[in-house]
Amino acid sequence: MNKLGVNIDHVATVRQARRADEPDPVWAAVECELGGADGITFHLREDRRHFGDRDAELLRKTVATKLNMELSVAPEIVKIALRLRPTQCTLVPERREELTTEGGLDVVRHRARIRPVVKKLAAAGIVTSAFVEPDEDQVRTSADCGFDAIELWTGGYAHAPNVTARRAALDRLVRALRLGRDCGLEVHAGHGLTYRNIEPIAALALFSEFNIGHTIVARAMFVGLRAAVQEMKRLLDRAPQHAAHEAGSAST
Ligand code: PXP
Repeated sequence: MNKLGVNIDHVATVRQARRADEPDPVWAAVECELGGADGITFHLREDRRHFGDRDAELLRKTVATKLNMELSVAPEIVKIALRLRPTQCTLVPERREELTTEGGLDVVRHRARIRPVVKKLAAAGIVTSAFVEPDEDQVRTSADCGFDAIELWTGGYAHAPNVTARRAALDRLVRALRLGRDCGLEVHAGHGLTYRNIEPIAALALFSEFNIGHTIVARAMFVGLRAAVQEMKRLLDRAPQHAAHEAGSAST
C-alpha cells in the first residue's frame, strides 16, 4: 500500500516569514489527517528555521496517525526526540546554508556517530529510518547500523532532465529498494515528488511510504490543505491499479 506521510515544514516556513502565529502547523496536521494522510512528518532543525519546540510538543500530543520526526544526529535534538518519542525518527543530513534537505545522509562516512544514536532511539521504542541515496553501500550500511527502515532520496528521479534519465533513476531506486528489503529494511521514498511525477513511482507499489511536502503545501494555497492531501492520496491509491490494468490490457 502506498502510504502518505505529509511533510508540513513549509506551513511553518510561511509562519516564520513573519514570525507570526499563523498558519499553525499543528492545525495543518489535523487538516492533513482529515484529508487522509497516513502520517505527519516534520523536521526539527538545530536552527529552528521553521519548526519550533512548541510545535513538536503539540504535534506529539495531537497527531493521531504516525508521527515522523526528521532530525540530524546533533545531541540536543536527539535528546528532544528521546523525550518526545514520536512513532518514527528519520535521520537526515543538515547544513545551515541549504534551502531544504538536499541529499541523503552519508551513513557510510558517519556510521560511528550514527550507530549509537540509532541504538538509543530504538531502546526508547522509536522506529528508526535513514534518509539515504539509492546506493548499495548506503543501503547495506544502514542495515548494519540497526535501522528499521530507509527512506530513499528521490531527488535524482524528480529532477531528471529527460525521460531516459528519469527511467535510469527509477531503475536505480528499484535496485536499492530490493536490496533494502533483502537486508530486512522497510523502504520509504521522498524528496521532490509532485502531483506530476508521482504516478510512475507509485505504480510500482513497492515503497511502503512516501513522504511528500512542498507540492502539497503549494497546492493547498489554491484548494486548501485537506483537498490537496485528498488529491495526492487519490493518485497514490489509483496508480498501482492503473498500472495493473495497463499491464493486463497489454497482455491480451
Ligand atoms: N523526505 C525528507 C527526508 C525530507 O527532508 C523532505 C524535505 O526535503 C521530504 C521528504 C519532502 O520533500 P518535498 O518537500 O520535496 O516533498
